[in-house]
Amino acid sequence: MCGIVGAVSVNNVVPVLLEGLQRLEYRGYDSAGLVVTCGGLQRLRTTGRVHELQKLADEQKMQGFAGIAHTRWATHGAPSVRNAHPHFSGLEENNPRIAVVHNGIVENYESMRERLQSEGYRFVSDTDTEVIAHLVALNLKRSEGLLEAVCASIAELQGAFAIAVMEEARPDKIVVARNGAPLLLGLGESGNYAASDVSALLKATKNMVYLEEGDVAELTSSGYRIVNCHNGKVVQKVERAVHETELTSDAIELGPYTHYMQKEIFEQSSAVANTLEMVFNAQSISPNLFGSAAESIFSQTSSILILACGTSYHAGLVARYWLETVAGLPCNVEIASEYRYRDPIVSPNTLVVGISQSGETADTLAAMKYAKKLGHAHSLAICNVPESALIRQSDLRFLTRAGPEIGVASTKAFTTQLASLLLLTATLAKLRRKLPPEAESCLIADLRHLPVAIQHTLQVEPQVKAWAKRFAQKRHALFLGRGVHYPIAMEGALKLKEISYIHAEAYAAGELKHGPLALVDSEMPVVAIAPNDQLLSKLKSNLQEVHARGGELYVFADADSHIVPSENLHVIRLSEHEGLLSPILHTIPLQLLAYHVALEKNTDVDKPRNLAKAVTVE
Ligand code: G6P
Repeated sequence: MCGIVGAVSVNNVVPVLLEGLQRLEYRGYDSAGLVVTCGGLQRLRTTGRVHELQKLADEQKMQGFAGIAHTRWATHGAPSVRNAHPHFSGLEENNPRIAVVHNGIVENYESMRERLQSEGYRFVSDTDTEVIAHLVALNLKRSEGLLEAVCASIAELQGAFAIAVMEEARPDKIVVARNGAPLLLGLGESGNYAASDVSALLKATKNMVYLEEGDVAELTSSGYRIVNCHNGKVVQKVERAVHETELTSDAIELGPYTHYMQKEIFEQSSAVANTLEMVFNAQSISPNLFGSAAESIFSQTSSILILACGTSYHAGLVARYWLETVAGLPCNVEIASEYRYRDPIVSPNTLVVGISQSGETADTLAAMKYAKKLGHAHSLAICNVPESALIRQSDLRFLTRAGPEIGVASTKAFTTQLASLLLLTATLAKLRRKLPPEAESCLIADLRHLPVAIQHTLQVEPQVKAWAKRFAQKRHALFLGRGVHYPIAMEGALKLKEISYIHAEAYAAGELKHGPLALVDSEMPVVAIAPNDQLLSKLKSNLQEVHARGGELYVFADADSHIVPSENLHVIRLSEHEGLLSPILHTIPLQLLAYHVALEKNTDVDKPRNLAKAVTVE
């Protein structure tokens, strides 16, 4: 995690660095810091948020023409000013003074630290990053310049990371390196920049260069060069394409909303419409939507393996029901962090599907690579970030066009993932002759109807708000669902945990009597998802089990589910049962519930404690 920004310009870079950090705060917000060259390296660090850093920079009228900055999600060392980046080497005399910001983890930092200590370097933080600063300083003594010293240092470091480095003696340049964590360059008229993602640089430029793994780049205000290194030596200069990003800075503004999560919940209708636009304009479903090789790969596919984390994993769990029921394909869904360390049995002709909003979740990327190493021939990425590592490393790809998701708790990414997975299901079903033309037309009509159905569902907000007041007093909650709605219950519980800090657990409702029923009393609200599907009568019996034991039920039911409110049984009615769309629509009120409970509890909705949006470390 962590976000890094660098800038070299003919103008003062402090505003660009701070704007960049604001945009990257979703990546971590335990502390923030920056360094600029202004008659020496001037550093500011705080355990507050970026706006605190801004205040400090304003008070000190900080200025400089080159600088690097960082927003931290703590891995090694508690959140404190001492552990905040940038980290320095050269506090001792006669050593070059170096500043480093870093995203990722240096795995061999303990042995490196011992070695550098024996060389006389003094450590003042608990971080792994400080190792990089001292190592670059050491290598600089025997290198031609900073770029060469960074190349030499990277060869000695194990782990996945991205770094930006400055040297006090050469205040006109910064050097950056990508080694397993995202990093791109922004090319402007008055300067050049680097950042962990595009959103950080949109105010400065639209021209981006996406670095490849192993690239090291040197930036000055008037130019840049990118090189490849091997065994610690610069091998050659490399050219990378310049892309004009389509993203506008408006897309990342809050607009009339109070929180990004609120904005993103209400954007779901248009996010889904954008994601499915190509289907809306067509009369039939085509495998080409997933890439030119999709028809050939899908025709060979006899089972599916889905790998993902967090909310994206829940999307995969929903898709399993669809893939099995509609396309008749066996489907396995695995938590990426578990899969990457198992010895799974590889079945031939399995399509591996990676689902990720960011496309940079370390465990998902590693699990996808592991699946390939084990012998799975084909992969598909379902992802929201076009230039992400996941997109680049997969054979086939489908972009969820949700637009930037900034709230740490994922909302519109989830519903657009579900829409994409439903489309994948339909495509595979059609190729396997499980979707006759009439059924295909009905499914396209359903998908066209989805944005409107989402708008309609959002209208339950006032009723959900009233429920939220009661939840805010509780310390625990149970979420129940059955069948394809069980993963939706899991997602509802996750949302509540993430942003309201209420302990919430999801159960398949039929499992209730095997344990969790013991927890039910008047202090334990039980949220149930009650669509009018083939499992409704079973679910109603499970709800009776709760009711009979004095539990308080909060039920989201389809209008035709015929569940009548009574004492301790509260019901919010959605529309009539929407068939395959039902799990997508039932997600919306659960997102609203978590959001309004968090508002009642006055938590930091967009930046919940201890979490970060993109988990780029193991
Ligand atoms: C973090 C985020 C979640 C997200 C998960 C997976 O935990 O806070 O919202 O679902 O990572 O992220 P991905 O980008 O791979 O979907």
